[in-house]
Amino acid sequence: MNRDQNDEIDIMKHFTSIADVSDLDGLVEKALSFKRNAFQPRIVSGKSVGLIFLNPSLRTRLSSQIAARNLGAEAIVLDIGKDGWALEFEDGVTMNGDKAEHIREAAGVMGRYFDVLGIRTFPKLNDREDDYEESLLNAFLNHAQVPIVSLESATRHPLQSLADLMTIKENWSELRKPKVVLTWAPHVKALPQAVANSFTEWMITAEMDLTITNPIGYDLAPAFRKDVPVVHDQKAALEGADFVYVKNWSSYEEYGKVLSQDETWSISNQHLAVTNDAKVMHCLPVRRGLVIQDEVLDGRSAIHLDQAENRVYAAQAVFNELLK
Ligand code: CP
Repeated sequence: MNRDQNDEIDIMKHFTSIADVSDLDGLVEKALSFKRNAFQPRIVSGKSVGLIFLNPSLRTRLSSQIAARNLGAEAIVLDIGKDGWALEFEDGVTMNGDKAEHIREAAGVMGRYFDVLGIRTFPKLNDREDDYEESLLNAFLNHAQVPIVSLESATRHPLQSLADLMTIKENWSELRKPKVVLTWAPHVKALPQAVANSFTEWMITAEMDLTITNPIGYDLAPAFRKDVPVVHDQKAALEGADFVYVKNWSSYEEYGKVLSQDETWSISNQHLAVTNDAKVMHCLPVRRGLVIQDEVLDGRSAIHLDQAENRVYAAQAVFNELLK
């Protein structure tokens, strides 16, 4: 099914998780149609998109700006940690410390300036309940009064997942569902679980044949992994895989901790030998030689740059839905 600019799909109010998407196939097809023709009739010309970053970004920042430009909308970026006032997110406090502005006013003002607001926030990885409550993202949802797009939150990265699903669909032509393996890989820093959580819930909703493999202690939150098989033997999990999605995440169980740096989990050509000539995915940034070996990233199996390219069209499809 091809979708053109004016086809009806259910209107999204926000885009913060797969739960906001009522027509997943339609959204993916819309994103793919923007890839075929980025400059379709510009029904959202003149609209404005605010892109608010509380944390660093390369792809999300650039792809969102390009997506808005392709639509004829204007994107303005604010690195709030650097350029904005320090924000207070607690309600009912006396603001006599170093926080100059409350989120109620900051989000309220940005909602007056923009038609859509994108927000990037990372988890602190200290307090599991606090991070999984998504209090920063929810503050924008509660106070901005305009559609909110998650540019990655404490627990999810839905624009990445949409681009990932597009990339799998582009690289798969057989009638059977592909076997997709999400594998943990080593890293020197404690990283969020957001990409892995989000990829898992999007693969479940897309009814993919997903297996997760990670060392003991790294199982994702039950609310995200649901009934997906979790295999602690990486080689066994990789057997017959059609797609291998490589990502590090810190422990959910011993929250935010790095329990292992086992480099035998770093993906090399030897790991891929048991797969079905699998395509290798990573959301980027990736640490070469640690998470994935150069021979894989520079080889014919790697489709990480396709994923990054698709971020533009994923954002374009989402902004288009929220702005039209
Ligand atoms: N994959 C991704 O979100 O990249 P950035 O952190 O560079 O935006």
